[in-house]
Amino acid sequence: MFDKAKAKVEARREAHRVPPALDAEQAASEAHERDKGLTKHHFEPHEHPCVRIEHLMKTFDGETQVLTDVNLTVWPGEVVCVLGPSGSGKSTMLRCINLLETPTAGHILIEDKEITGHLVTKEVNKLRQNLGMVFQSFNLFPNLTAKGNVMIGQTKVLKKSKAEAEAEALKQLDAVGLLDRADFKPAQLSGGQQQRVAIARAVAMHPDILLFDEPTSALDPELVRGVLDVMRDLAENGGMTMIVVTHEMGFAREVADRVVFMEGGVVVEQGTPEMVFDNPQNPRTAQFLGSIG
Ligand SMILES: Nc1ncnc2c1ncn2[C@@H]1O[C@H](COP(=O)(O)OP(=O)(O)O)[C@@H](O)[C@H]1O
Ligand SMILES: [Mg+2]
Repeated sequence: MFDKAKAKVEARREAHRVPPALDAEQAASEAHERDKGLTKHHFEPHEHPCVRIEHLMKTFDGETQVLTDVNLTVWPGEVVCVLGPSGSGKSTMLRCINLLETPTAGHILIEDKEITGHLVTKEVNKLRQNLGMVFQSFNLFPNLTAKGNVMIGQTKVLKKSKAEAEAEALKQLDAVGLLDRADFKPAQLSGGQQQRVAIARAVAMHPDILLFDEPTSALDPELVRGVLDVMRDLAENGGMTMIVVTHEMGFAREVADRVVFMEGGVVVEQGTPEMVFDNPQNPRTAQFLGSIG
């Protein structure tokens, strides 16, 4: 990045008085201490978190502050479910992690590499390859078949041969139970099937981390189960690192290693599902869970 742009980022940081990102070793050791009682996921003493969010802030139009001060670490292979009322900043946080939104201040580090502030387009593209995203609205290409949708990122971005991409696409469609729908276009599939194609498409890129933004919220109730089953399989048998924004409390309770409750642009509370669901410490968490439970 040019010096001028760098200076601008630094000035903005200064304006928000966010301290510099922690040194990798210090951050890992603090995260070990903090997280060991908060997650069911087992991490080793030498491990570092794969996602580290420190003092993340996001302001739209210079005034609407959506993320105030988000702090979160995620460990390799951990499944983190993010809960919280509408408008609390959950989507904005996810979108900052893969730089669909530019953070206003604070730090996001993936594998100890800072992604906030100094990346060029090539680095951003590489980052996005490593972070699969599944959206509420599926976002499939309507003119491509299910198989075509799962192939296109592999051929265009990963530069795989057509044959290789096709083999991988069929494997991933099989994994989500849609091998027999490979040649169907999105319009010929139910919402649940489209979302399973979207998951197959994300997994086919073999990202290190999968981000889900309310993947079942747009689905008719009878189609939710099939999508959650696919996600559960990825979490339990695929060993994927997953950050899942969801309102599916049953899924969060059963599948999450850690539940994070957000409100008003901060992480209000986090812990194992048992801690957060059965014994919430913060009255806002309790109220939210009570109101939807
Ligand atoms: N591009 C944007 N411009 C202005 N405000 C936005 C934008 N995106 C989100 N917001 C605002 O940020 C707040 C949090 O949004 P969001 O992250 O989508 O919350 P959640 O996913 O928890 O429902 C909302 O008040 C929303 O209106
Ligand atoms: Mg949202």
